[in-house]
Formats: sequence, C-alpha cells, structure tokens
Amino acid sequence: MTHFLDIHKTDPTDLQEILSSAQRMKNARLGRPKGAKDDTLPLAGHMVALIFEKPSTRTRVSFDVGVRQLGGEPLMLAGHDMQLGHGETIADTARVLSRYVDLIVIRTFEEAALLELAEHATVPVINGLTNRSHPCQIMADILTFEEHRGSIKGKRVVWCGDGNNVFASFAHAAGQLGFDLVFSGPETLDPEAEAVEFARSKGVTVTIERDPAKAVEDADLVVTDTWVSMHDSDTTKERRHNQLRPYQVNAELMRHASEHALFMHCLPAHRGEEATNDVMDGPNSVIFDEAENRLHAQKAIMRWCLAV
Ligand code: CP
Ligand code: NVA
Repeated sequence: MTHFLDIHKTDPTDLQEILSSAQRMKNARLGRPKGAKDDTLPLAGHMVALIFEKPSTRTRVSFDVGVRQLGGEPLMLAGHDMQLGHGETIADTARVLSRYVDLIVIRTFEEAALLELAEHATVPVINGLTNRSHPCQIMADILTFEEHRGSIKGKRVVWCGDGNNVFASFAHAAGQLGFDLVFSGPETLDPEAEAVEFARSKGVTVTIERDPAKAVEDADLVVTDTWVSMHDSDTTKERRHNQLRPYQVNAELMRHASEHALFMHCLPAHRGEEATNDVMDGPNSVIFDEAENRLHAQKAIMRWCLAV
C-alpha cells in the first residue's frame, strides 16, 4: 500500500518524481478552463473520499477539483457528519471506507488517527494535515520555489514564527531534498525536536536564530504561518501573539533579506499579524502560486499513491 503520510516517510526519489509529474500536468493545462478534464484520465472509475475534521478552503477545493480533472469522483465528508465523530472507531471507518472508495484523504487532529486509518485501510491514505505535519502543503511550496528559482537543493529557507506543523514538514523536506533551514521564533514555541533531528540526520543544517533580522540574512526563501493553528487552544492566543510579535514578517524585516528572497505563507493568513500587506502583496510574494500549486502537487501525489 502506497500511502502519502509524511515527507520524511517518502523516498526522496519518489518526492522528485511527484514534483516532476506535478509540473508536467500543470504545463499541460496552461490556458485551459479550470473545469476541463486533463488529456489523460488516470483516476477514471476511481472514488476518492475527502474527510475533513477541521476547516479547510485550499485543501478541500484543490483535492476536489484535482480528482475531477483526473477523471475521478470526489466524495466530500465532514468528520462531524460521519459516525467517526460519534464513537465509531477509526479502524472500522478505515475498513468500511476501503470497501467503497479507492483513495482516502484525511485532515484530522492527532497524528495517531491518521496512522490508525492508514494501518487499517486497504486503499492508500493521504495526509491532508494533522497537528504535527502538512506534507501536501510543502510539496506545493517546493514546486513553487523551483518554478521561480530552480532546484531548492543547497538553498537557505528561513522560517519566522511558530514552530508548528507546517514548519515540521519543511524540516522533513529539508532533510529529504537537501536544503538548509533556519528557525526564528521564541524558545517557548520551538519546533518539535524530532523533525529538526530528522533533517540534521540527513546532513543539512538546521539553525535556531532568535534574532529575526539576523535569521533572514542570505535567505532564499522567507516563510511564515498563522500564530495560532487550528489545534491550538484559544486560551493561549494572547500569550502567543505577545511572544510572536517580534517575528512578524514586515517590510522592515525583509530589508535585512536579499532582494531575491521569495516570501511564502501557506494561507489562511491573519494579515497584519504574522505578515503585513506590503510583504504579502509585495513583489517577492508567491503566496497565490503556492495556493494554485496545491492542485498540481496533490494530483501528482494521488497518481503516485495509485500508481496510475
Ligand atoms: N493551506 C491550507 O491547507 O489551507 P486550508 O486550511 O484552507 O486547506
Ligand atoms: N498551521 C496551520 C496551517 C493551516 C493550513 C494550522 O494547522 O492551523
């Protein structure tokens, strides 16, 4: 069974193959209406269950559209409408869904739920975000970086803000694809050691730099994300805001970075908090390319999982 659970669990050769396939499919669709199907329909006859236990705009729509472009049938399922949200086990849900559909995408809270689903499903499972990682996002981000700047290998990616799930997937990608990573944020919101250790074990440099102005020097890419993730408790919001304010990505901070440094944000953004409008809408921002590339990257991930 070929699941796409995390970037560090996927062979680097497969990651490269997924990125190339995404780029090929993107190029082949240039100028076409969004609703047009691709020339080849590798998902024809395939049902894809899309389970969301948390809100989503990009992941939900890009998977839905991507399945249709590839000739398949998406089935959108809100976690709270399923028996899963009312006491049925994940294992039983996995066994049942595997009798109806060919592929399952899930956005959930605990990573354990994703892993249990994958263990009991007899069809591939794709991670659409958990509290710990967001691999589909980072595949789209790498695709975006490479479209603008060529290979990410050997480049320097600087993260400003919360050491969250999106950062963890960047750390996994750094190890697998060979780029250096700098984390700049308060010690209380440091990333999980496991993701950082994974990257370091692959020979890349992961640096912690508390001074954001120093951190962004020589950056090829500056990235941030919301200060309060969907799984964070609301009671920590004010404390997080106070701690993260010095790490806001604004024009002043970007003056310390080189002119060629791209800016990314996976969105949704809280404009004026983690990043200001001048950066979000500035010349180095590629935030909407990232959003578009979710579609192309995920189509490639689904094809890879199903070997079609
Ligand atoms: N970036 C991202 O995953 O967005 P959604 O939460 O809208 O899916
Ligand atoms: N870190 C954010 C990403 C949203 C796409 C969250 O988990 O809420």
